[in-house]
Order: sequence, then C-alpha cells, then structure tokens
Amino acid sequence: MPPGDVSPPAGSKKKGQLGLTSRHPRDTQRLGARLGELAQAGDVYLLVGNLGAGKTCLTQGIARGLGIEDYALSPSFVIVRELYGRLPLYHMDLYRLDDIAEIDELGLDEYIYGNGVCVIEWAEKGLALLPPEHLLVQIDYLEDSGRRLKLTAIGRRYRELIAALDKGGADAAGH
Ligand SMILES: Nc1ncnc2c1ncn2[C@@H]1O[C@H](COP(=O)(O)OP(=O)(O)OP(=O)(O)O)[C@@H](O)[C@H]1O
Ligand SMILES: [Mg+2]
Repeated sequence: MPPGDVSPPAGSKKKGQLGLTSRHPRDTQRLGARLGELAQAGDVYLLVGNLGAGKTCLTQGIARGLGIEDYALSPSFVIVRELYGRLPLYHMDLYRLDDIAEIDELGLDEYIYGNGVCVIEWAEKGLALLPPEHLLVQIDYLEDSGRRLKLTAIGRRYRELIAALDKGGADAAGH
C-alpha cells in the first residue's frame, strides 16, 4: 500500500460499518478531514480507543475538514473545547470524568444536543448518557504506527454518512 493511503481491506464491508487501516497519523487526519467535510449540524461522533490510539489526531482532521486551521491541542485538561469553522466543533474528552452524573452537572447536554458537531473522546465513560444515535469510531493499535479504525453507524443519518465516506472507496481518506 503506498504511504498515505487508507483503504478498506477486503471483507471489511458491512452495511453501517466501515473498517479502515491507517499507516500514519497523516492517514488518520485525512480520514478525519473527510468526516469534517461531510459533517452536519447535530452530528455526534463517539471516539473509543486506548491512550495514544489517535482519537485527538482524528479530531484534528475533523477540525480541518470543518475549516478550522491548526487545531493541535488535546482537550485533556478541559472537558470541552469549542471551535468555530463551517459549523461549530465541540471537542470533548471524558477521560477525567469521575462520575457519569458530571455530564449533567457540567451542562454538556447543551453541546451534545446543540447545533454543532460533537466529537467525544473516551465516550465509553458516558455512554449511558450520550445520544443513542451516533457514529462510533473504535481505534485499535496495529504494529508500529498502524491503526485499525472501525466506524459503526447507529441510526440512519450515520448510515448515510458511512455510505458517503465509503463512496470514495480508497479515496475515503480524501486524496
Ligand atoms: N496511524 C496513526 N494514527 C494516529 N496516530 C498515530 C498513528 N501512528 C502513530 N500515531 C501517534 O499516536 C499518537 C496519537 O495520539 P492522540 O493524542 O491522537 O491519541 P488519543 O487517542 O487522543 O490519546 P488520549 O487517550 O491520551 O487522548 C500521536 O503521537 C501520533 O503521532
Ligand atoms: Mg486525546
């Protein structure tokens, strides 16, 4: 596979699901940028994966796809960061959430059910209080700088989103 290519391995296609392999942070960002370009107001993307898997890296791409330049920061010390591009991006990181009730207490619902694009790292910590319809992105380590990204659509909007991403085929990463 040429460097910079993100293509679905054979057998990874299933309705409402898309499996991709990233060989470099750049690939992950390109996939994010494609997502950012296709994003609609009210979208919710839940990112799940170990420390350093690439959740923030993917979000940087989403920001770029929304027309937000140079978004390099991880929100680890704040729970939510607001950025403004074609649509607002609400980038949340639930890593430091001690108790799921904090989602209510911190007023995160305003973002989650708002009119921006909500990207939530460590979403598994708040799953019970997060919207049932969402795009789930699971990132797993492969060897070295390889990552496996599994996208699962829950709900019609997200099945359409995955179909639109997939339509580009090997071009899913936006090149
Ligand atoms: N294919 C790849 N995709 C994404 N990141 C990669 C890849 N290969 C190596 N990396 C590196 O892995 C790290 C991913 O860091 P990132 O902050 O995005 O992870 P994270 O999942 O947000 O972690 P955390 O749980 O701490 O928030 C970066 O240092 C990045 O350069
Ligand atoms: Mg992160």
